[in-house]
Amino acid sequence: MTTTARRALPDDFCALVMAAGQGTRMRSDIAKVLHPLGGLPMVAHVLELCQSLVPKRTLVVIGHQAEQVRAALETYPIEFIHQAEQRGTAHAVLMAETALEGFAGDVLVINGDVPLLSKQLLERVLAVHRTSRAQATLVTTKLSDPHGYGRVLRDRTKAFKGIVEEVEATPAQRRVTEINAGIYCFRAQPLFAALHKVRPSTVKGELYLPEVLQMLRAARGRIATVSADDPREVLGINTRAELAEAAGVLRRRVVSRLMESGVTCLDPAATYVSVLASVGRDTVLYPGAQIEGRTQIGDGCTIHAGARIRDSQLGNRVTVLDGSVILDSEIADEAVIGPYAHLRPGNRLSRKTKVGNFVELKKSLVGPGSKIPHLTYVGDSVVGERVNIGAGTITCNYDGFAKNQTVIEDEVFIGSNSCLVAPVTIRRGAYVAAGSTITDEVPSDALAFGRARQTNKEGLAAVIRKNKAELKAKKAASEGH
Ligand code: UD1
Ligand code: CA
Repeated sequence: MTTTARRALPDDFCALVMAAGQGTRMRSDIAKVLHPLGGLPMVAHVLELCQSLVPKRTLVVIGHQAEQVRAALETYPIEFIHQAEQRGTAHAVLMAETALEGFAGDVLVINGDVPLLSKQLLERVLAVHRTSRAQATLVTTKLSDPHGYGRVLRDRTKAFKGIVEEVEATPAQRRVTEINAGIYCFRAQPLFAALHKVRPSTVKGELYLPEVLQMLRAARGRIATVSADDPREVLGINTRAELAEAAGVLRRRVVSRLMESGVTCLDPAATYVSVLASVGRDTVLYPGAQIEGRTQIGDGCTIHAGARIRDSQLGNRVTVLDGSVILDSEIADEAVIGPYAHLRPGNRLSRKTKVGNFVELKKSLVGPGSKIPHLTYVGDSVVGERVNIGAGTITCNYDGFAKNQTVIEDEVFIGSNSCLVAPVTIRRGAYVAAGSTITDEVPSDALAFGRARQTNKEGLAAVIRKNKAELKAKKAASEGH
């Protein structure tokens, strides 16, 4: 035997996602598969599903804006296949031939622009493919408006005959409502053998993957079809209108799931929650709240209008007031954030903390019960327990060269409008007088003044007022002449 082919287990399959196309019909400078949908890039929805099926390997074909697509998907355990020139879906799959050399199992091939798929449908595809011992299995569905899709042609016995793309279809074929969903399962070896034989389409000059189905059938291979019961889940996104439609379907799906699990959505049509987010019981989401990425929100929280929370963990009974932005941060139970607070990445807030109006936080730890109620910037800081930071306090963490740390120990009180010039430490229980500029360590229990002393010039205000009145009288007199 010269072949290195390993005998595949019956359930051995690899997933292959096609994501190299530009998506011309989007009229966009962003690759189509990166357009966000429900808080994730479009293609990430497909990848999440693939992961849930635990394939042996997942390959993603990239090409147009390959670097951006690669960067957006770097957290997934996937292998990238490069398709330098996008010559069509058959060509895209062919690019994976070397990577899959010797693989004798099945390849689940999915268009990267079909983000509403369900796990059940893909499981059904794999199951039907195996039990029917097909060479290829594809998903089809019937659409009242099949415009833009490849139409499924069947013979008189209703057996699969082939697929014709819309641009190549005759008027009679265009009236067919059964469409190709762009989801297939193939036996690896016949797939690659056939891909080499695909010829460019006469109209567009592209190499069409569905051609392979015709070829396998012509060689007496069995082609199975699986029908998607809900046509919405195989919606392929080619235009902005379809993107908006998919976003609506996804939003309704996620919001229904949340409501079933005990979340109040005051206006479900205006609640935006990522598919990867979780929200606990009795949490209330106000209209316009946006919960993005892998955010986790606990029980009994209230998220007010216009709050945007991304990749963050909120404990129980946390209140996020209107217009606040929370990114990559952890917030413990009973904290109150906002209104209009900005938590940039890397904060950890303990229980019962308060971060109020127009406060910006970055890479800071805030201890239990501490309050930063108004107009403050706290960056690269460690704030202890029961600290009170007055309005307008600024941690001057950047000296023009490096970012430096500010440490504010337990029970410190920082008077309003103070500058804490980092690196600096305010020791336990110390007070900083309002309007201070603090450049040196403040010892425990000390009161630090870092401002000019006030002097009062007795009677000077009255003198100024008198001079002003005299000047005014003089001016009026000269104009009267
Ligand atoms: C494709 C199918 C069509 C089906 C429809 C379902 C073909 C020829 N047609 O049409 O039968 O009804 O999907 O939604 O396959 N891609 C690459 N490299 C390429 C070309 C495309 O990676 O060279 C990727 C795209 O990024 C996209 C996917 O393949 O994710 C599908 O390509 P697209 O151009 O959207 O195909 P459709 O015209 O929608
Ligand atoms: Ca498409």
